[in-house]
Amino acid sequence: MKPRAEPSTTVVDASFEAGSTDARSLPPPTLLEVALAGRSNVGKSSLLNTLMQRRGLARTSGTPGCTRQLNMFQVRCSDGLTLRLVDLPGYGWAQRSRHERGQWQAMVERYLAHRVSLRAIVLVVDVRRGPGDDETQLVDFVRQAGAPGGGRPIDVIWVATKLDKIAVAARKPALARLRRAAHAPVIGFSAKDASGREELWQRIRGAILGGPLAGASIVG
Ligand code: GTP
Ligand code: MG
Repeated sequence: MKPRAEPSTTVVDASFEAGSTDARSLPPPTLLEVALAGRSNVGKSSLLNTLMQRRGLARTSGTPGCTRQLNMFQVRCSDGLTLRLVDLPGYGWAQRSRHERGQWQAMVERYLAHRVSLRAIVLVVDVRRGPGDDETQLVDFVRQAGAPGGGRPIDVIWVATKLDKIAVAARKPALARLRRAAHAPVIGFSAKDASGREELWQRIRGAILGGPLAGASIVG
């Protein structure tokens, strides 16, 4: 007998809620949140659309620096789980001026350090590149922001995207290499064929429901 496949997460409602260049002017933290972080052009907005099953809800582009503000989406799944997914602007975009980089850092750091409803970041890397100094620094920052005394724990969920860009035989070794480099589990993902989508949803679900507020998604 064939093992039964996991039922996939169905998103019944997804809408853009707010976009801001200032973390202080975001909507009040009335729902638990998961934010997507990663290098510019790595595929964060595409991943978000795949998660939400909405083509084009989060804007994507082949040109780096497409998402320049914090964009917040409200998502409801068929089992009632309701949360916010936050698309963060990417880092490491060379064309950006020093002033813009400073602004980016201030905005993202303020969000990561002070957003009480933030439960996890999905840290997106290109499966062909792997983690670098930017990712290490981000993980350190998030650990400190979520340290006991400093607030609530923030999960880091590593995702290696654009899996479809490498040969099938190369995928397992590439993910194993990334796991060793990240010292953490890494989910292989593709926005092109939605592989890894369900595994990522399960991790997000765990981050949202597994904390001290288990069973509740509304904190406000
Ligand atoms: P910024 O907003 O600039 O930070 O970029 P981003 O990380 O949001 O990237 P975005 O989702 O806009 O995607 C960048 C480019 O990569 C687009 O041309 C996408 O079509 C492409 N892309 C994203 N994910 C995948 C994937 O899984 N597979 C393939 N083949 N292409 C992808
Ligand atoms: Mg984007």
